[in-house]
Amino acid sequence: MKHEKIETNAGLLIIFTLIVISIGGLVEIVPLYFIDSTVEKVTVAGKDTIHPYTPLQLRGRDIYMREGCYLCHSQMIRPFRDEALRYGHYSLAAESKFDHPFQWGSKRTGPDLARVGHKYSNQWHVQHLTAPRSVVPESIMPNFPWLIKNELTYKDIEDRMKALKDVGVPYSITEKEYQANVKRFGKKIAEQLDINHAEQNLLAEETKNNYDGIPGKVTEMDALVAYLQVLGTMVDFKQFEEDHFVKFR
Ligand code: HEC
Repeated sequence: MKHEKIETNAGLLIIFTLIVISIGGLVEIVPLYFIDSTVEKVTVAGKDTIHPYTPLQLRGRDIYMREGCYLCHSQMIRPFRDEALRYGHYSLAAESKFDHPFQWGSKRTGPDLARVGHKYSNQWHVQHLTAPRSVVPESIMPNFPWLIKNELTYKDIEDRMKALKDVGVPYSITEKEYQANVKRFGKKIAEQLDINHAEQNLLAEETKNNYDGIPGKVTEMDALVAYLQVLGTMVDFKQFEEDHFVKFR
């Protein structure tokens, strides 16, 4: 059939347009029915090791988005040999299942950050974020000197957690939800996910780790470094056979 025939006949054009759109729709919608089998189950000793962020890490993630770190950094290690050699095990779907919105990205002006957790010390991050060229002379990353000066606002942490809860992240409010989390993640993590104690937990985590190196002051740097240090650390790949995750692909 000549292309002109379709383009000059509104009825035909509508029919063919609908066919094309439904193919596109199917390609996007059908995989959602299999999502349970494609998002890996990552459990060690009966507990899920991938859990939602603690209140402090969550604030750090918000700052990561506010500062536009994602414009230069992806958080998805693709299953290619060169990426695995550089960054570590490829990212699992399960590792970003609690991220709303996810930070996969495709722009890598800087390196992928999906497994940057525990790669450097807290002190290195503080120095690097404040003045990247003081630790990596050839860096083109911008300075973020205000992070260490700005006090962290955390009064709204409960609302932030509730918003995520609304889209399915298992933070708990009721005793029943809390108990379900104890069963799923263990007591220590479940306590961190309890919205009723969010502020208290956030402050305790900051006091314990003092990410920014300034005792007694809760800065945006504390939150951002707490977030960076957890990235890619929730799955201990040594606990699994080398090809364990292949079957989910
Ligand atoms: C203009 C692009 C750009 C932006 C925006 C940017 N970075 Fe970077 N980042 C880079 C480049 C380039 C490097 C590699 C050189 C270096 O280490 O400084 C890097 C390196 C890093 C590293 C070290 C990674 C590794 O494995 O060595 C971390 C951590 C990091 N950036 C975090 C951040 C955070 C957090 C933000 C937001 C506050 C941010 N970056 C914003 C470009 C950027």
